[in-house]
Amino acid sequence: MTVTIAKDERVVLITGCSAGGIGHHLALELAAHGCRVFAGVRTLSKAQTLVDNPRIKAVELDITDDASVDAAVAYVLAATGGRIDMLVNNAGIHCVGPTVELPLSQVQQVFNTNFIGMARLCRAVAPVMMDCRQGTIVNVGSASGYVATPWVGIYAATKAAVHAYSDSLRVELAPFGVNVVVVAAGCVKSNIVDNYSEPLLDDNNTRYTMARPAIEEKFGLSQVEGVTPTSQLAHVVVPKILRCSPPAYITYGTLSKSTWCVYFMPPVIRDYLLSRRYGTHQLAKDLQSPSPSSPATNSVIVWAALVAAALGTTYALFML
Ligand SMILES: NC(=O)c1ccc[n+]([C@@H]2O[C@H](COP(=O)([O-])OP(=O)(O)OC[C@H]3O[C@@H](n4cnc5c(N)ncnc54)[C@H](OP(=O)(O)O)[C@@H]3O)[C@@H](O)[C@H]2O)c1
Repeated sequence: MTVTIAKDERVVLITGCSAGGIGHHLALELAAHGCRVFAGVRTLSKAQTLVDNPRIKAVELDITDDASVDAAVAYVLAATGGRIDMLVNNAGIHCVGPTVELPLSQVQQVFNTNFIGMARLCRAVAPVMMDCRQGTIVNVGSASGYVATPWVGIYAATKAAVHAYSDSLRVELAPFGVNVVVVAAGCVKSNIVDNYSEPLLDDNNTRYTMARPAIEEKFGLSQVEGVTPTSQLAHVVVPKILRCSPPAYITYGTLSKSTWCVYFMPPVIRDYLLSRRYGTHQLAKDLQSPSPSSPATNSVIVWAALVAAALGTTYALFML
């Protein structure tokens, strides 16, 4: 399949465009701004509502798979006569739970998707842009990349890595006329929570049972009533990323600006605020008032018995 592309039309490849997510709405908004959009999805049926748009073509794309990425990029280049003017690395997954208790397999999976997957796409597409001396790479980061709150340490680490990678890439690609933009999204309506099926705690092996309500609250936080609608985010972001000189960061979405401000606080104040907001302060109190059968109480009983035995022995010896 080849498509005829006007000189002023931009060719965009975007990942993670399943219906209802941020990528889906970015694809629609980019098409509305006259771009020719190749919308990457793992399952083509999830792009059903996009393909009615004559400016959008769905492409099968799993960002954790070298062959899939190579095939998708080759497909777009063949269809457009060798052009990709914009790459939007949007695909990503969530990760929630006590940082030290999450299985390493899950840690690897989320890094493999959110960070390595993004880097894989950049490696495949940046050389095309560098040779053309123009292009824009947009990496969807997160406000969590600014401030890592409790219970999402691993997810935040992947997004901080996306930010750091992008900062380096921006300076390295600038001589070739290629822009790099980070979209640090706040809470935005999408399927990110519905798509998450991992347990929040390993019930048989956790020290955080008492923190379960706080973890559950944090899990659902990005999708509570009134968070930024996905179409609104796309409406704000797209005109900015289409500029000849786009901003390095676009921070947008519920709580994103306040999170950015928290980033500049001294760690001691930041930790104080986060411990109260995300339940670890209460957990500390709960842990200090243990139940009668707890090991701490048991050790008090043992010590009391030892002291009583010592006093009794001393008294007995004294009386002899
Ligand atoms: N929503 C928020 O509040 C929020 C805030 C900050 C940042 N973000 C970031 O925004 C981006 C989009 O997330 P979203 O909120 O729109 O969530 P979403 O509705 O769950 O969309 C995520 C998209 O990524 C795709 N994806 C996941 N793994 C993939 C893989 N291995 N290869 C290709 N595609 C894959 C999903 O495909 P399937 O449908 O096949 O699973 C889906 O299309 C993510 O990078 C996320 O971290 C979201």
